[in-house]
Amino acid sequence: MICAELSRDEIAALPFEFARTARLARDGGFGGVEIHAAHGFLISQFLSPLFNRRTDDYGGSIAGRMRLLLEVVGAVRAAVGPDFPVGLKLNSSDQLEGGLDAEDALSVIAALDGTELDLIDISGGTYFPGARSASDSGGKGPYFVDFAMRARAVTTKPLMATGGFKTLGQAEEAVAGGAVDLVGMARALALEPSLPSLWQTRHVANPAFPSFTDPPEGGVTAWYTMRLTEIGEDCGLSTTDDLRAALETYKARDKKRTEIWLRRF
Ligand SMILES: Cc1cc2nc3c(=O)[nH]c(=O)nc-3n(C[C@H](O)[C@H](O)[C@H](O)COP(=O)(O)O)c2cc1C
Repeated sequence: MICAELSRDEIAALPFEFARTARLARDGGFGGVEIHAAHGFLISQFLSPLFNRRTDDYGGSIAGRMRLLLEVVGAVRAAVGPDFPVGLKLNSSDQLEGGLDAEDALSVIAALDGTELDLIDISGGTYFPGARSASDSGGKGPYFVDFAMRARAVTTKPLMATGGFKTLGQAEEAVAGGAVDLVGMARALALEPSLPSLWQTRHVANPAFPSFTDPPEGGVTAWYTMRLTEIGEDCGLSTTDDLRAALETYKARDKKRTEIWLRRF
């Protein structure tokens, strides 16, 4: 894969783009924003020694690789004011050979302690062919709680972990054990959107997670994406567990969206 290097002017413009988007979200009535520095997206690529081959002060050591992130956090906070919640989603590890590792991630968390962030959301994995991603992984329980415990030692910021939570018991244990202050969930909410209220009223209904044997890469995420589409369209849960079919539907839907996008822009 060959990538173009961003110019210094392009990098200088980035914090303001994040800041403008955060302000739009605030003015549009959102309750907070989460800066995405995980999963292989742009800031995550800057953090990663695998993707970031720059030789200027935005590359090299972890201090250089996190420079853009710190500038983005500062610009977002300045744009939304002191009272608007600003969180950040960060990889504990890219789960890619040569990518961001746990030691580097801890250095980033330590540096974020000196910023005006309200929350650090710990995740991991990368949306990249052949790599593991958080929404495609299976398993019985949460993935990032142990790392969150290590993060506690280097920051005073509230911590959240997102990935693999399936039951109220797991969520309560992560909080009661002191690893995190909050629990983030994606797939559980795609199965049961009112889960937080159910759990709050102690109507403990743990969602029935489908189990897939030998899923193709991206298949699980595609299945949940189509589930979200069903929720959006207000129709019932489809019973298909054919992940290859889900991938095809997902790709076809994206292709249609891309055509609309290209026509318009
Ligand atoms: C349908 C679906 C779409 C997702 N899309 C994205 C995405 O576009 N970008 C991203 O960084 N994470 C995405 N995620 C990952 C989630 O935010 C979350 O980190 C991951 O699913 C692990 O949490 P969970 O075990 O509670 O699902 C997606 C997850 C699902 C299920």
